[in-house]
Amino acid sequence: MLKIGIVLGSTRQGRVSPQVAEWVKGIADKRTDAEFEIVDIADYNLPFLGTTDGTEPGIAAWNEKLASLDGFVFVVQEYNHSITGALKNAIDFAREAWYNKAAGIVSYGSTGGARAAEHIRGILGEVKVADVRTHPTLSLFTDFENMSEFKPQDLHLDNVNAMLEEVVAWSGALKTLR
Ligand SMILES: Cc1cc2nc3c(=O)[nH]c(=O)nc-3n(C[C@H](O)[C@H](O)[C@H](O)COP(=O)(O)O)c2cc1C
Repeated sequence: MLKIGIVLGSTRQGRVSPQVAEWVKGIADKRTDAEFEIVDIADYNLPFLGTTDGTEPGIAAWNEKLASLDGFVFVVQEYNHSITGALKNAIDFAREAWYNKAAGIVSYGSTGGARAAEHIRGILGEVKVADVRTHPTLSLFTDFENMSEFKPQDLHLDNVNAMLEEVVAWSGALKTLR
């Protein structure tokens, strides 16, 4: 069975990413061709890359978690027209554990998180993660109440299912390369 991690891109107190990730997982769990789990960067207490000797147990645990997964759905939020520093740092903390896997992106922000999503596509290319085309974009104005309570419009459901279909297909295909 393929294992897909739904990765929370934000770590700040009061973040909305857990609500979005739970919603994606609820849709994904209806599938029978893959297992889905939420992966929270905050659980790993990663230091800022290069500021320690790299022996913190969270670094090894993060790499082990990534290695156990066949694909990813990144829950990406837009911070200053890009991804969060926490997500970039977490991506930088692994190398081979990312290689030859697939990913989908679910983003949010004032313009659907589109700028952040396009940035992570470039980063994923460098760690040999193949990002699928279909990309649900959630608006802080119309999919959240008061920009904090997640109330997604129904129209996103088809897009999430199409993205998951592509992630599962590509994750299975890329597994044959590893
Ligand atoms: C440091 C910072 C920078 C932000 N910059 C942008 C931005 O450039 N564009 C945008 O659409 N939203 C921006 N936002 C709004 C976030 O997208 C919004 O707060 C979102 O809820 C953040 O995700 P989170 O709650 O999971 O942390 C920014 C938020 C923060 C904290």
